[in-house]
Amino acid sequence: MWHLTTTRTSYVVGLDQGGRLVQVYWGQRLAPQDVQQLPRTAGPIVPPYGLPLEVEEQLPVDGGLRWGPASLQVTFPGGVRSLEPVLVGERIEQEKDAARLDLTMADVRFPLEVVLHYRVREASEVIERWVTLRHTDPEGETFEISRADAGSWLIPPMADYRYSVASGGYYAEGQVRRGIVPEGEYTLSSRTGITGHHSNPWTMIDDGTATEGRGEVWSVALAWSGSWRLTTQRRHQNRVAVSGGFGHEGLTLPLAPGGELTTPSILGLHSAEGFGGVSRAWHAHARTSVLPHPDEIRPVVYNSWEAVGFDLNQDQQTALARQAAELGAELFVIDDGWFSTRTHDRAGLGDWWPNPARFPNGLAPFAREVHRLGMAFGIWVEPEAVNPDSDLYRTNPHWVLHHPDRQRDELRSQLVLNFAREDVRMWALGWLNALVADGEIDFLKWDMNRAFTQAGWPEDGEGQNRLWIEHTRGVYHVIDRLRARHPRLRIESCAGGGGRLDYGILERTDQVWTSDDTVAHYRQSIQHGFSQLYPACVMSAWVTDQPYSTDPQRNQYAYHVAMAGALGIGGDLNAWNDRQREQARENIAVYKAVRVLVQQGEQYRLGGQPGESLSAIAYVDNEDVAVFVYRPRVELRPHAPSVLLAGLDPDAVYTDLDRPGFAVSGRFLMTAGVPVHDRLPSGDWSSTLIRLRRTG
Ligand code: DGJ
Repeated sequence: MWHLTTTRTSYVVGLDQGGRLVQVYWGQRLAPQDVQQLPRTAGPIVPPYGLPLEVEEQLPVDGGLRWGPASLQVTFPGGVRSLEPVLVGERIEQEKDAARLDLTMADVRFPLEVVLHYRVREASEVIERWVTLRHTDPEGETFEISRADAGSWLIPPMADYRYSVASGGYYAEGQVRRGIVPEGEYTLSSRTGITGHHSNPWTMIDDGTATEGRGEVWSVALAWSGSWRLTTQRRHQNRVAVSGGFGHEGLTLPLAPGGELTTPSILGLHSAEGFGGVSRAWHAHARTSVLPHPDEIRPVVYNSWEAVGFDLNQDQQTALARQAAELGAELFVIDDGWFSTRTHDRAGLGDWWPNPARFPNGLAPFAREVHRLGMAFGIWVEPEAVNPDSDLYRTNPHWVLHHPDRQRDELRSQLVLNFAREDVRMWALGWLNALVADGEIDFLKWDMNRAFTQAGWPEDGEGQNRLWIEHTRGVYHVIDRLRARHPRLRIESCAGGGGRLDYGILERTDQVWTSDDTVAHYRQSIQHGFSQLYPACVMSAWVTDQPYSTDPQRNQYAYHVAMAGALGIGGDLNAWNDRQREQARENIAVYKAVRVLVQQGEQYRLGGQPGESLSAIAYVDNEDVAVFVYRPRVELRPHAPSVLLAGLDPDAVYTDLDRPGFAVSGRFLMTAGVPVHDRLPSGDWSSTLIRLRRTG
């Protein structure tokens, strides 16, 4: 048996008596001597017409006595299916701050090796897994891979099973949904070529009784930004397993003689401290093991997209930049519309030079003005898409995903450039490098507004399905090279709002545009879903011009919602009145005072239906606490006049920074709570920020 441990978790893998590689245990950490006592399964028991328990296997294959959803499906020459893998090797390696285990299986007859990789890091609770498929005969024939998951996870036996997922759509990303795991198969998937708006690539399983603060939760997430599939199966025998990986059904990938296919990682994380505990462990994973610059404080951004759309020019942006700087913004971003003929969404995408009518001397003079104002300078790009009405498309119509003799459906008047192609990658790197250098750019908002359709690559012939994988790898490659060349460059991931949020993109970007929906109370449920797996420091959140922004209290509510993430401003500053400016100035100053806590503290969701009922969220470190309380409607007057805090030292004394007379113990705050009835203003859209500091 192999025993992988994190600070709080044990994950035990072993061979059963039938030689299958199975999960023996996944849960709270065990002592090494106890692991020896874990019962081993006897191997597959298959009553006639029954189903074997391949749910226990690390990577159930299509083959033998198995009929569940296969995690690995291969067709060998001559149409031979039915894999027969046996363990042939193990390797344990100490990496920097991590331990790695590789278990190699090989088919008994065909030259195929399947390496199951495992990594545990000292600073993270995540068990990382991925798979390499290796064709070991360079002289042989091509194999066809129709499924290659990164791993399957067995959920320990429980009386019942409940799933939690984040589903939704454009303008409604990440809505948390829970339900009893049905018998059969429950699949979440993206077939769009990007992570997608409709579900985020993760699922959590508990026994139906876990709460925000208590109970065991098992979670599984994919670190991948292209199409994906995550299947939870519940057997009639009441066993549950979750298997996932890149790609979606119906695609076959060639594995050439001597070739290799490595999957992206699937991540498993168990917590015994409820949904809040599992989320905090994911946030810690992002900070310790994923983000390129976890300790950097995210700047307050100004972006005029919602204010001016495509109608922009240098003078107008300069006027906005001066005002943004005066309010306290630290990063000024020009969104869509700054280049070539892109004065609307029907033309110019792909032609990445500044529109001479809008920026007559290029971007550099404007960048210098932004820098002179003390802000960093950022710009919007959408490298993966093209408008047919562009020089790029007129010159290289074969660069887009397409099939011969099929129409090229347009969405938002655009098509997708095939980033699996080396020439397209080189083209993107060429102009991006020049843009960043010549335009003195510090920040890119990397957008992608187009799901794949007619996803063909005729020049690649039989193996062209690999574009579904290689496009995403191409995007990663371009971003990685760009960052290596410009180490100070920071990048925001965006895909028509929050369509590209996952642990793959977070390895190479610094924040994510959460959603195009910036209406504060709708945004709350989107942010709530975001927070399940991803930390507040990467959650871009703007206050924009909504019909209510001239209502001071409602606007304040919007500030408090956005301040729970990485605050930005997106309103039309030229049209703001003095009071709106003052409100922005004050809130930006307050945000700067609390943002270390928000961006790097531990997050506690304190209950309520965000955006619908009284809800609160707190950020805590050893010294300080920031609690945002929201009551969207006056009739939701809290029954309990207090909000119970969490995560404090019960014996420490905490003092309210704005009401020094209020000094109580952590125990008091966690049992009696912090009174909010006299801190919340009256009326609808009432919110407050309570700041406490440990004073004894
Ligand atoms: C979609 C993004 O989500 C918006 O924020 C904006 O950048 C537009 N694209 C620009 O076309």
